[in-house]
Amino acid sequence: MERIVFFGTFLWLCSCEVNGFQYVFVRHGKDLHLDIGRSVVLDKKTDLIWKFNKTNNVAKCAFNNDPVVFDKYEGRAELFRQNYSLLLKNVQHSDSGDYTAFMVSNEDQKVAEYKVIVQDPVSPVNLTVDSVSGSSESCVLAVTCSTVDSSIHHSFRCDDKNCSQVKERTFKPTNYSSSFIVYLQQDFILCNHSNQVSWEYNKIKFDCKAITVHSRATLIQISTSVGLFLLSVFIALCIVTKCKSQSVFKQQQQ
Ligand SMILES: *[C@@H]1O[C@H](CO)[C@@H](O)[C@H](O)[C@H]1NC(C)=O
Ligand SMILES: *[C@@H]1O[C@H](CO)[C@@H](O)[C@H](O)[C@H]1NC(C)=O
Ligand SMILES: *[C@@H]1O[C@H](CO)[C@@H](O)[C@H](O)[C@H]1NC(C)=O
Ligand SMILES: *[C@@H]1O[C@H](CO)[C@@H](O)[C@H](O)[C@H]1NC(C)=O
Ligand SMILES: *[C@@H]1O[C@H](CO)[C@@H](O)[C@H](O)[C@H]1NC(C)=O
Ligand SMILES: *[C@@H]1O[C@H](CO)[C@@H](O)[C@H](O)[C@H]1NC(C)=O
Repeated sequence: MERIVFFGTFLWLCSCEVNGFQYVFVRHGKDLHLDIGRSVVLDKKTDLIWKFNKTNNVAKCAFNNDPVVFDKYEGRAELFRQNYSLLLKNVQHSDSGDYTAFMVSNEDQKVAEYKVIVQDPVSPVNLTVDSVSGSSESCVLAVTCSTVDSSIHHSFRCDDKNCSQVKERTFKPTNYSSSFIVYLQQDFILCNHSNQVSWEYNKIKFDCKAITVHSRATLIQISTSVGLFLLSVFIALCIVTKCKSQSVFKQQQQ
């Protein structure tokens, strides 16, 4: 059977709004950019400050001064004066949390807020065929898709035009963790393991006719080997008979 296998890993940053909060998913080791979504004007009495988890100060910018990055983030964070956006390089899991920007004056005024989640890329998947049964008109294919720590089994029934999943498609709901699904896409069975920052997939071409071609090839193999066996038996018989007749001839000479 024709088997085409693909792998893919894409994405590394994803930003989406959930329950009114701006979530940012970033792949471990990549850079994080956080913007102030509105225009901000500083004056003599107003600074801008980026905070992490309320109590940690990351960087600040004062009127007519160069931005300052606090000790813990020295060399790792950058605050851009033109637009007050924050850049955090090479994010670690400990960087997951709330990032807020405040205009600090008589009163603090929040001007940006992000919930940042640092994720590792998902592990690769392995899609394998467990069994194939049926004919070229209609066949059933059982597959297993596995990752390092889990696996799912599925069966697909196909005729010459159309395929369908024998069992209900199982869909692990994602909640910042990874999702792991097997589904049909045109002539392919796909297994897709994904989270917000990456996905890995593997696919197999599904074609009942290819199965028939395969079994026809097996038949040819069988008939060829049977033919070869008969031929060797015939040759062996010939040699034995020739030897016998030669020995008979020799005996007669003696
Ligand atoms: C803010 O400025 C930085 C540095 O010039 C730039 O990389 C970034 O894209 C800017 N952000 C926005 C939202 O314009
Ligand atoms: C920051 O806050 C988040 C969410 O409240 C928490 O999960 C995380 O452990 C905190 N990180 C640090 C370094 O305090
Ligand atoms: C996929 O399965 C094959 C055969 O069982 C194995 O050799 C290979 O290492 C597996 N790959 C992954 C990514 O699990
Ligand atoms: C494929 O099969 C489904 C259900 O068996 C059917 O509803 C659909 O019309 C079929 N599509 C084609 C192109 O035959
Ligand atoms: C994730 O799950 C938690 C608790 O199970 C729930 O409170 C939260 O709303 C869920 N978030 C999303 C995006 O579904
Ligand atoms: C795998 O899933 C991800 C996330 O749902 C999606 O963006 C991607 O397009 C899927 N890949 C394929 C090959 O369908």
